[in-house]
Amino acid sequence: MKLLFFGTKGYDKTYLIPYMEDEKYAGIHVKFIEAELTPNTAMLAKGYDSVCAFVNMDVGTRTVELLHECGVQMILMRCAGYNNVDLDTAKKLGIRVAHVPGYSPESVAEHAMALALTANRHLHKAYIKVRENNYSLSGLLGVSMYGRTAGIVGTGRIGAAMARICRGFGMRVIAYDRYPNKSLDFAEYVELDELLSGSDLISLHCPLTPETHHMINIDTIGRMKDGVILVNTSRGGLIKTDDLVRGIRENKFFAVGLDVYEEEDGSVYEDMSDEILQHSTVARLLSFPNVIVTSHQGFFTEEAMQAISETTMENALAFEKGEKGPNELF
Ligand code: NAI
Repeated sequence: MKLLFFGTKGYDKTYLIPYMEDEKYAGIHVKFIEAELTPNTAMLAKGYDSVCAFVNMDVGTRTVELLHECGVQMILMRCAGYNNVDLDTAKKLGIRVAHVPGYSPESVAEHAMALALTANRHLHKAYIKVRENNYSLSGLLGVSMYGRTAGIVGTGRIGAAMARICRGFGMRVIAYDRYPNKSLDFAEYVELDELLSGSDLISLHCPLTPETHHMINIDTIGRMKDGVILVNTSRGGLIKTDDLVRGIRENKFFAVGLDVYEEEDGSVYEDMSDEILQHSTVARLLSFPNVIVTSHQGFFTEEAMQAISETTMENALAFEKGEKGPNELF
């Protein structure tokens, strides 16, 4: 079975190569390429049975159609989210799609809390200040998480892990999800409105769907407490960025931590430090002292990379054996 691995970074190879050298996966022949999977590069898959793509790639209608023309029968997403894949077209064309669910929910949740703490206690500023021999505390005042209310939107694997972390900080945890997670017996499920108005920390962990697109907008921001901390490690499209910028300007937020944001697609995972920034949104967000942005790295731990590599190879193996794997999406 021939597998073309798009968008390869050094760390992908580090974690995948040991599996490829394992006898168990001997029937899977992987070629790594650096190009991202997009409509412009999809034809590179000619002669391959399957392709492997990531969260930042364009696996929309045109890409899927081109992959089909190339004879590709399986798309292996090496990530949990798959909102960037046109599943309907894939299904129609008989291309199977698998993903890696829940590879290390704690890794993402820990990053969510790291963002909340960093933005709240201004660690990003403190780091620079001390390096500059500036030991003054001005601009570094934070709030204590202890005794405050955390509102978790979406309590699947990652949201549940975040809820447990918040509980460990001595926070009251409230949550919103259409399907309450029974394991979170310490959390109180409320309607979204109540979560928005009652939370000191709001952390987003639901998937991006037509329903959740721009769920954080000027209206929902208006219903939040003044001085709220907002964290998004899920998908950029959950937040209408222009409205967020307006809310920040109106001093609604004590702090904002974003691992994902609209417009991230062209630059995420690339070193563009020598280039003139073409996106205005990120620049605007970065101009605020109480906002911290990271580059979709919530998943990026040794544990997660290990689990992603293993599950991706298992998904490929099931396909090679002609079986339907447990992580196929339809
Ligand atoms: P999951 O499928 O275990 O949980 C998602 C939860 O959201 C479910 O409980 C579901 O019922 C709930 N949900 C769906 N629609 C909702 C709505 N309209 N309102 C409230 N809740 C709703 O997914 P998991 O593994 O927890 O991942 C969550 C998201 O995190 C993924 O969709 C992905 O976008 C993002 N993610 C981000 C990563 C990063 O590196 N920053 C890494 C992995 C995932």
